[in-house]
Amino acid sequence: VGTLGEADLRGKKVFVRADLNVPLDDAQKITDDTRIRASVPTIKFLLGNGAKVILASHLGRPKGVTPKYSLKPLVPRLSELLGVDVVMSNDCIGEEVEKLAAALPDGGVLLLENVRFYKEEEKNDPEFAKKLASVADLYVNDAFGTAHRAHASTEGVTKFLKPAVAGFLMQKELDYLVGAVANPKKPFAAIVGGSKVSTKIGVIESLLSKVDVLILGGGMIFTFYKAQGYAVGKSLVEEDKLELATSLIEKAKAKGVALLLPTDVVVADKFAADAESKIVPASSIPDGWMGLDVGPDAIKTFSETLDTTKTIIWNGPMGVFEFEKFAAGTDAIAKKLAELTTTKGVTTIIGGGDSVAAVEKAGLADKMSHISTGGGASLELLEGKTLPGVLALDEA
Ligand code: 3PG
Repeated sequence: VGTLGEADLRGKKVFVRADLNVPLDDAQKITDDTRIRASVPTIKFLLGNGAKVILASHLGRPKGVTPKYSLKPLVPRLSELLGVDVVMSNDCIGEEVEKLAAALPDGGVLLLENVRFYKEEEKNDPEFAKKLASVADLYVNDAFGTAHRAHASTEGVTKFLKPAVAGFLMQKELDYLVGAVANPKKPFAAIVGGSKVSTKIGVIESLLSKVDVLILGGGMIFTFYKAQGYAVGKSLVEEDKLELATSLIEKAKAKGVALLLPTDVVVADKFAADAESKIVPASSIPDGWMGLDVGPDAIKTFSETLDTTKTIIWNGPMGVFEFEKFAAGTDAIAKKLAELTTTKGVTTIIGGGDSVAAVEKAGLADKMSHISTGGGASLELLEGKTLPGVLALDEA
């Protein structure tokens, strides 16, 4: 992928695709600005080198123009972080955009309205891509979180704007999620959690060829237990994935990967924050109870194993961490990874989605080597897939 430093920037209009898809509350207030902050280094670099930035993003999944999905609430925070007054247009293509883009001073920023207000964006319509591209001289894609989508602003525009290069965030995500995973410092451990094995099959299969240790947690473990003939009570089980679970265990064995399943679990009498709970051996979950977290013995074994590793990738929580009572397993992993990063220089990569939320909730986000800003995108990368938004940059 081409990088920023190679492009000549002064006076140039740069179309920057960022992933500013941040959560907003009912009062249109930003509840987590991580993705905005993560986009700042690239934009500042461009401004600092005399470029004019035309910034585009989607927000949510609107069907047509929907005020609730406007990017307007982001303007004050963006302006504050960038130290410039960000100008915003009411549309992402058309006359107003052309005028505002033409009037931009060097070092100025124009934020376009939600590109998904046009269905042509997700259809990757070439005419729409051409219109987006028409106001700029070159293209920078920093929208890692959207790189798994072949949309007009992530893929289509590269046919009309050259050079098309990666921003710093995109580059960093690829360095860790592709680079560090392909050439890890060994031993290399993966921790995979989450409620369903069906959504993690691709990741587990792909990681089995790379890791020395695979730790499994989260709701998916009960499908593995049931496959082994354990009593699982009323824990979540994907009945149609029992054979798959057995075959994954066999694959791990054949590849010499140490596969660790929790030896004990925290069970609850119902799926609720105020449920009755107790710790039981994983092999004998009582009737009428469901597993909602990994137990203290499991945490101890996982921690001791992680102590021996040099690279760790983590995707998916260990339990229902949204409920305080069942957050201990996830919190313990977050703390362990933070400790290993800061005291032993272990490379720790948090691959998107719920595990990122858990690390942030624990206040440990700045203690990890890398926290991905992409949920679906990081999952697809870890599955070994090529992302269309990245491929388009390679081709350009
Ligand atoms: C995300 O939040 O994962 C990205 O912004 C992509 O959004 P999407 O799943 O609606 O394409």
